[in-house]
Amino acid sequence: MKPRILSGIQPTGSLHIGNYLGALSNWVKLQYESEPIFCIVDLHAITLYQEPAELREKIRQTAAVFLAAGIDPAHSSVVVQSTVKEHAELCWLLTCVTPLGWLERMTQFKDKAAKQESIGDGLLQYPVLMAADILLYQANLVPVGEDQTQHLELTRDLAQRFNAIYGETFTMPETRLPAVGARIMGLDDPTKKMSKSTEGSGHAVAILDPPAVIRKKIMRATTDSLPHVDFENMGPGVQNLLTIHQAFTGWSGDQIRRHFQGMRYGDLKKTVADAVVAGLEPVQKKYAEITAEPGYLDRVLAESAARVRPLAAQTVRLVKERMGVYTA
Ligand code: AMP
Ligand code: TRP
Repeated sequence: MKPRILSGIQPTGSLHIGNYLGALSNWVKLQYESEPIFCIVDLHAITLYQEPAELREKIRQTAAVFLAAGIDPAHSSVVVQSTVKEHAELCWLLTCVTPLGWLERMTQFKDKAAKQESIGDGLLQYPVLMAADILLYQANLVPVGEDQTQHLELTRDLAQRFNAIYGETFTMPETRLPAVGARIMGLDDPTKKMSKSTEGSGHAVAILDPPAVIRKKIMRATTDSLPHVDFENMGPGVQNLLTIHQAFTGWSGDQIRRHFQGMRYGDLKKTVADAVVAGLEPVQKKYAEITAEPGYLDRVLAESAARVRPLAAQTVRLVKERMGVYTA
C-alpha cells in the first residue's frame, strides 16, 4: 500500500521561498509515491487575529500557489481545513487526552506567546489541531520544514498516549524533511528563520515576487565582511545563499563547492538570484493561468474535500466509539 502523506501551510502573509523549499517542492516530489492530502490550514491561521477579508483572499491564493508549484489535483487532494469539520471535532477529542504541560513546553507557543499582550487559548491548542490534521487521515508521512519537528514529536506522543489509553487507533506518522532547504534563513538576518510574519521588505523572497524584486532582495542580502566565498570560513548569510542555490538547482555539494569557491559576493548574489528567478518562473506562470480560469480553484477545493470527507468521518467515528461518546 502507498503511504499517506499529509501536510499543511497557513494562509497568512505571502508564501516565501522557505515555504517552497522546506515544504511545497518536497510535496511535489513525493506526491506520486503516495496518497497525498495538502491542507490550507485556515483554522491554524486564526490562532492569531487575521483581517477577515484578507484571510478569505489568502486562502484562495495559498491554494492556487499549491497548484502552481506542481501539486496535481487529479492525484493529490488540496483541502481547506475548515471545510472538513472533522479537523475541529478530532481536535477537541484529542484535547481531552493532552497534558497541559506538553503544550506549554512547545517552543513556537513560547515564541508567539512572548509577542502577545494577552495569549489566546487557540495559540496553546495549535499543536493539538495540527495533530488532529495528521491523525484524522491516519497519515504515515508528514513532509515539513525543520521548525515543525517538535510539533510532530508531540503528534506522535499524543497518538501513542491515545492508543495506550483507548486501544490501537492511530497510525504513527513520520517526519520527512527535505535533503536541502529544511531551514531557510532571513535574507536580512541569517540568524533568524525566514518567516511570513517578519516585517521588512528585505527579509523574505515571496514565491510570487516579480523577478526585479527577487533580484533586488537577494543583492541586498546580509553576508559578512569577507570579500569572497571561502568554504573553510563561512558566515551564515553566505551559507544561506548557497543553500538556496543548491535547493533550487539540485546541484550536489561538490558542484556547489567547485563553482562558488573564491567567488566574490556580488557575483555569488547574482548567480543565486538567477537560480531563484529561473526556479520560480514556471510557478508564477502557472499561477497566472490558474487564477485566470473562473471556477477552477473552487472546483478543485470542492472535489478534494468530497474525496477526503469519508476518511475523516471514519476516523472520528472510531475515536468516538473508543472514548465512549455518543455515535448514533
Ligand atoms: P508556515 O508558513 O508556518 O505555515 O509553514 C508552512 C511550511 O513551510 C512548514 O512545513 C514549515 O516547516 C515550512 N517552512 C516555513 N518557514 C520555513 C523556512 N524558513 N525554511 C524552511 N521551511 C520553512
Ligand atoms: N503548523 C504548520 C506550520 O505552521 C502548519 C500545519 C498545520 C501542518 N497542520 C499541519 C503541517 C499538519 C503539517 C501537518 O508550518
